[in-house]
Amino acid sequence: MCYLVLFILLCSGTLLSITLIDYYQHQRDGFLDSVQKRLQCGRLRERLVTMTTIKKVDIALFSQEVRELMDCPWRLNLTHRELHRTELWSCCNASDRLMVTRQNTNLNQSLSYEIQRWRKRKVDQALWEMLPQTVPWSKGSLSHCAVVGSGGILQNSSCGAEIDNADYVIRFNLAPINKSYDVGVKTDLITANPSQIIKGYTDLQRNPGHLAEVLSVYGHAHLLLPAFSSASGTSPCFKVYHALRKARPQQEVVFFHPDYLFELGRFWRHRGQRARRLSTGLMLASTALEICEQVHLYGFWPFPQDLSHNPLPHHYYDNVGPNRRMHAMPEEFLLLLQLHSQGALQLHAGPCTLTPTP
Ligand SMILES: *[C@@H]1O[C@H](CO)[C@@H](O)[C@H](O)[C@H]1NC(C)=O
Ligand SMILES: *[C@@H]1O[C@H](CO)[C@@H](O)[C@H](O)[C@H]1NC(C)=O
Ligand SMILES: *[C@@H]1O[C@H](CO)[C@@H](O)[C@H](O)[C@H]1NC(C)=O
Ligand SMILES: *[C@@H]1O[C@H](CO)[C@@H](O)[C@H](O)[C@H]1NC(C)=O
Ligand SMILES: *[C@@H]1O[C@H](CO)[C@@H](O)[C@H](O)[C@H]1NC(C)=O
Repeated sequence: MCYLVLFILLCSGTLLSITLIDYYQHQRDGFLDSVQKRLQCGRLRERLVTMTTIKKVDIALFSQEVRELMDCPWRLNLTHRELHRTELWSCCNASDRLMVTRQNTNLNQSLSYEIQRWRKRKVDQALWEMLPQTVPWSKGSLSHCAVVGSGGILQNSSCGAEIDNADYVIRFNLAPINKSYDVGVKTDLITANPSQIIKGYTDLQRNPGHLAEVLSVYGHAHLLLPAFSSASGTSPCFKVYHALRKARPQQEVVFFHPDYLFELGRFWRHRGQRARRLSTGLMLASTALEICEQVHLYGFWPFPQDLSHNPLPHHYYDNVGPNRRMHAMPEEFLLLLQLHSQGALQLHAGPCTLTPTP
């Protein structure tokens, strides 16, 4: 009897110590893993931040690195964020002049076009009356912003809930929001470009219904148009303004300020962007970086394969490519990835986890 008890005690003791040793080994391995991972993540961030161009980079290898980076924890770095915010504010001042307003413009003054600086447009009485009083926010007044690019990477991303969780959501080029599970529905600001309007909406004056219907899904979002980027864009943008004023008076139509876009282009050119013109995506990501506390980017991924090398369409809603002569999307992407690596904003380039990050 005695021996039996002793035997059982001994056995359970051994079992217990084996379990304990196992447990501590696991803990130690986990600890070593996490130290190693932290070091790896640090090195990866450093490497990406010091890259000067993406030309000649093997995209498959680069995708692998981005995939590893997306697995690394992201932490806000206040120093970097404040630095970028302050620099953007002093160069470009989106809080004051992202758009042409009565506050930043005088009646009868001239606006220089963004691209054709020598061409001017007088702010006559008719134009003055089309302008809003001010921009709809002030510096730092927005907390959590989502900037939703249209990249094919959003297909099957399950990012919709996370995007809708933001306080302010920016979208581009009248991107459809019917794949709401992946892209969300909340929209506060949306852009359209003149060529899209000319192609898709003929005879807006007599027939505004189609455009009004397309816009109705965005509720009260501001529609932001580059009316003063090149002279040929003014008339289509004004037509949109007049068509919507009657058909959807609740939808404010506003115009990018050409000086804002011009200064922003110069700002990023001094920091290595060589393309003829910034994409609207980078423009409004910069705006968000200046005016929002937290910036989350979705749908920014300019390559034809996702992080696991599956083929992707150009956009999550179609497969029509960008203008490669005009923009340099991969270089812009590297810039955004660097801002992510520095902890200034957070880029999402893969499926979203089901629990939204705080
Ligand atoms: C932010 O970045 C700077 C410069 O890289 C670094 O010195 C600082 O420790 C970082 N701050 C935090 C909180 O990580
Ligand atoms: C930005 O615009 C606001 C409003 O007009 C102004 O008060 C502020 O001084 C401007 N900031 C810079 C850096 O120019
Ligand atoms: C603007 O120009 C119009 C026509 O040239 C003139 O009648 C008006 O007084 C001007 N207004 C201002 C505020 O300069
Ligand atoms: C979603 O919207 C796009 C563009 O408006 C349209 O082509 C497509 O058929 C729509 N898809 C569904 C499932 O409604
Ligand atoms: C998304 O899922 C649909 C349906 O399963 C599939 O047809 C499509 O190829 C997927 N797209 C991507 C980019 O994985």
